[in-house]
Amino acid sequence: MTNQIAIITGASAGLGRVFSRKVLANYPQVDEVWLIARRKERLEELAAAFPQRVVRPLVLDLTQASSLSALEELLAREQPTVKILINNAGFEREGLFRAMKPGAIQTIISLNITAMTMLNRLCLPYMAAGSFEIITGSVSSFAPIPYQAVYSASKVYTRFFARAIREEERERGVNVMLFAPGNMATEMNNPATARGTIAKLPYLDLEKETSRALAKAAAGAAIYTPLAFYKTYRVLTKLVPNAWAVKFTNLKKGQA
Ligand SMILES: NC(=O)c1ccc[n+]([C@@H]2O[C@H](COP(=O)([O-])OP(=O)(O)OC[C@H]3O[C@@H](n4cnc5c(N)ncnc54)[C@H](OP(=O)(O)O)[C@@H]3O)[C@@H](O)[C@H]2O)c1
Repeated sequence: MTNQIAIITGASAGLGRVFSRKVLANYPQVDEVWLIARRKERLEELAAAFPQRVVRPLVLDLTQASSLSALEELLAREQPTVKILINNAGFEREGLFRAMKPGAIQTIISLNITAMTMLNRLCLPYMAAGSFEIITGSVSSFAPIPYQAVYSASKVYTRFFARAIREEERERGVNVMLFAPGNMATEMNNPATARGTIAKLPYLDLEKETSRALAKAAAGAAIYTPLAFYKTYRVLTKLVPNAWAVKFTNLKKGQA
């Protein structure tokens, strides 16, 4: 029998680290857990906390084509069954688009869009009936967000992409779920330093919501947005034209 594995990107911090702990603690049916991020010591620390589990820390910068090739080669060599894929690494910067650092724009696009897409291309052939994937999107994808233009647009791509491949994969029993959360206290979004509109919105309970997201993805859900507040926002953005929505989603007030 092939090795059953879980792959988690962005495993060194924030949401990905909590997902990693949950998978390591609660999914004994997975033989090996592959943790991907750039900070080696963080991945090794996580592996050391679960000495009874087989953990493979993979130090990869997913914005580099060479990292994707390295993962492709590893998969081809090991021929595992990917039971769980948590496609989660992401990058966010805000601000007036025309003043944004070009490098930040490129990183959002290459990590949130290109790497997320290519990771699917590399892993889906190794997934089988009963496998599931969580793709981390965001409530930022529900309406255009002035002063978060690139990030919110990157998550629209994620939302559409996840829904489309979900339909393709459903036929063979592989579930692809979009996790579209609101505020989470992570390195990306520190409540102590957050400003403007975002700082006023509720923060999610990461422990609770990662468990729920895993259970929902395993049970075949298509999308999960935690909390009535963000669920209501999702419904409202379906009813209100984007031309109106941008008057409310504009983050200009929070900018320095
Ligand atoms: N925090 C929020 O409020 C929020 C809300 C909605 C959605 N999200 C989404 O949730 C996901 C996780 O975000 P988070 O808040 O947990 O962010 P975070 O705390 O900044 O963690 C990001 C993770 O991605 C990894 N990463 C970043 N750049 C990478 C690269 N080039 N190659 C490989 N790994 C890379 C980081 O590890 P290294 O630095 O070690 O590489 C880290 O493990 C993202 O997709 C984000 O867009 C976040």
